[in-house]
Amino acid sequence: MKNYVIIGGSSGIGAAITQQLSASAHQVYASYYTHEQTNEGHIQYFHLNVMDSELSLDFLPEQIDGLVYCPGSILLKPFLRISPADFIRDYELQVLGAVKVIQQILPRLKKSPQASIVLFSTVAVQTGFTFHSVVASSKGAIEGLTRSLAAELAPSVRVNCIAPSITDTPLAGNLINTPEKKEVNAKRHPLQKIGTPNDLASMACFLLSDASGWITGQVFPVDGGMSSLKV
Ligand SMILES: NC(=O)c1ccc[n+]([C@@H]2O[C@H](COP(=O)([O-])OP(=O)(O)OC[C@H]3O[C@@H](n4cnc5c(N)ncnc54)[C@H](OP(=O)(O)O)[C@@H]3O)[C@@H](O)[C@H]2O)c1
Repeated sequence: MKNYVIIGGSSGIGAAITQQLSASAHQVYASYYTHEQTNEGHIQYFHLNVMDSELSLDFLPEQIDGLVYCPGSILLKPFLRISPADFIRDYELQVLGAVKVIQQILPRLKKSPQASIVLFSTVAVQTGFTFHSVVASSKGAIEGLTRSLAAELAPSVRVNCIAPSITDTPLAGNLINTPEKKEVNAKRHPLQKIGTPNDLASMACFLLSDASGWITGQVFPVDGGMSSLKV
């Protein structure tokens, strides 16, 4: 049994990761922000807003074996309609939130013999899409953070990143809230479907586990073939 911390474990991909880890009898400390959760089985929930200047995570156990950071956004707008303040807010949520959490938890991760951090990017960093300038900028920073932290923390802590394409979660709600929109989005992918939270959670759980013990500093597309195939 290992101790895992999932930031943003109350919805979408983070909720699926929380459930998969708990089903494997690991102890999971999962945060919620707006959707309050009740403890169940191996899952202890706690409230956290990563935009707060001070995060108090002192109640977590002395040894943590893995951390996943899930809070994200999909702000899609034409470039000229996005203010510099929008870019900063998005960076605060997606990048500085991860930085603050990792800085707090790192001493506990270093007490694990096999610690792993998993971050989330997006297919829109590798491939340019219209209206994605905010999210691609923040997630591009996450990919840089992944590689530099992986170097700095080796060999004690592995750091990897997953770059999904559109996945059926509340975050993507506006893009897939009718059967027609879902169908159109599915057809954009070589595998002709959008992702499920479990598709992404399976990769995250692999990257947390000792089975991926020789993998660090990588960004893995999990995207129905979107970033690399033209069919
Ligand atoms: N879904 C997609 O199509 C897609 C595509 C590409 C990349 N991604 C990336 O994948 C990751 C997971 O996305 P998702 O679709 O699973 O998102 P989601 O369903 O919106 O879940 C986000 C989680 O983060 C928490 N959260 C949001 N704001 C927070 C804050 N200020 N402080 C602390 N926690 C906060 C939410 O808590 P509450 O729900 O309790 O408020 C929730 O648990 C994100 O980084 C996203 O950018 C997703």
